[in-house]
Amino acid sequence: MKLTSIQKDNLPAIHMEKLKIFDTTLRDGEQSPGFSMNIAEKLRMAKQLEMLGVDIIEAGFPIASKGDFEAVKLIAESIKRSQVTGLARANDNDIDRAWEAIKGAYSPRIHTFISTSDIHLTHQLRKSRQEVLDMAVAAVKRSKSHTENVEFSAMDATRSDREYLSQVIEAAIDAGATTVNIPDTVGYAIPHEFGNLIKYITQNVPNIDKAVISVHCHNDLGLATANSIAAVLNGARQIECAINGIGERAGNTSLEEVVMTLYTRKDYVNAETNLNTTEIYKTSRLLTRITGVGVQPNKAIVGSNAFAHESGIHTDGLLKDKITYEIMTPESVGVKKSILVLGKHSGRHALKEELKTRGYELSDEHLNKIFERFKELADKKKNIFDEDVETIVAEIVLRAPDRYKLINLNVISGSFDMPTATVQMEVEGEQIKDVGTGDGPVDAAFKTIAKITGTQSKLLKYSVDSITGGTDAQGEVTVRLEENDKEIVGRGAHNDIIMASVLAYINALNRLAYLKQNPLKTLL
Ligand code: KIV
Ligand code: ZN
Repeated sequence: MKLTSIQKDNLPAIHMEKLKIFDTTLRDGEQSPGFSMNIAEKLRMAKQLEMLGVDIIEAGFPIASKGDFEAVKLIAESIKRSQVTGLARANDNDIDRAWEAIKGAYSPRIHTFISTSDIHLTHQLRKSRQEVLDMAVAAVKRSKSHTENVEFSAMDATRSDREYLSQVIEAAIDAGATTVNIPDTVGYAIPHEFGNLIKYITQNVPNIDKAVISVHCHNDLGLATANSIAAVLNGARQIECAINGIGERAGNTSLEEVVMTLYTRKDYVNAETNLNTTEIYKTSRLLTRITGVGVQPNKAIVGSNAFAHESGIHTDGLLKDKITYEIMTPESVGVKKSILVLGKHSGRHALKEELKTRGYELSDEHLNKIFERFKELADKKKNIFDEDVETIVAEIVLRAPDRYKLINLNVISGSFDMPTATVQMEVEGEQIKDVGTGDGPVDAAFKTIAKITGTQSKLLKYSVDSITGGTDAQGEVTVRLEENDKEIVGRGAHNDIIMASVLAYINALNRLAYLKQNPLKTLL
């Protein structure tokens, strides 16, 4: 018999378990080096996560800084379809601050946590097991005084004594926790072992039927997705994960991997999510655009090679029938070829409509700026593709209230003259102009900008990519800067590569300035 579609489509209808997807891109992801986002960027990302259909958005750690608090609050007040949660350590101050930030949400959740492993109790918290159990109970009760929807996490659960872990979970549920999270905080677990731990909890925590079991895996051994799936096979009903797998150290479980594993192998796992998988690629690209940090080409699901077949045998098979080598279609995750969306003669209205279909509700001010930039690009480039539009929007809408702005740039370079850059900038409202030379046009421009801004940062990385094909394509430049042990990435796009470089450098300097004002990420 010739199979014409993937086997799962032919399965008889059976009861599928519903899984909740808890996204922590904006908290665990954002707290890792190189991924910090400003408020506008976080809000844009949260809206895209809502479009993707995630059940819970962890928007940040409100007590960590004023900036984090404001971002969580704004997201809580703007999101209508997903629950919004804020993280809090097991103490009243953290919990009350988290509640302040999320209380305006359509569906708020408090997420409170404390470590349960003897390693953390002895070497970090310096507390006894009983003291930690009492703190967990008090934290859940305090959270419960604000909202019904309380998640409790037993940090470093996979290195905790199972009996003690079960006692803490039981006590947290008795105190009112509606979700209990079992984190593999240091990415230490092996799938079979982690699955057994979840099974042990389902069998040994007497009141476990009163809460949803969640898992939160880190990827230090590259096993986060496998561990999460093993947990689901043993009773977990919520997975915590992040877009592109970003997060502390080697990252968190990658959202796209778990979701597409469940989608592709629901025949085996017997569980499904509420996600609109066709939004996955777009969400991944948005994060890349915002942070300037790409994924490796062979990254599962969202890497540029994820659906590219090269070998003769594979392409031969695919031409005969896609089922030979394709377990999921690129369309199922929203990967499509670049689409021509607009041209030189498209008007403001066409642009507005195009942006609307992409989920952008823009102010007139933003629309005007985008239109101006679009016209500028259309004068130089015949066809405008969907990636071009997304890039322009990212450039304009997602800019922080910038400390440094470029007003004018003029660069002379060639085989005779010493490369020279004249740069005019606005620094906190004041216009400054300077001239400088360098080893090449980019070096000359960067040195002049460094002089104007007085930055002490060191350039660690500089790379150029083209957004679409052709010599008129927009160039996308990524720079990585370091200052006082903090690393930051900046991005810029333009069809003049020197301009793209300068925009990327200034973007990174603005991000550094923002990070200095919001020195979060030191509490966890
Ligand atoms: O990795 C971890 O344990 C965490 C908790 C705060 C859930 O991020
Ligand atoms: Zn974590």
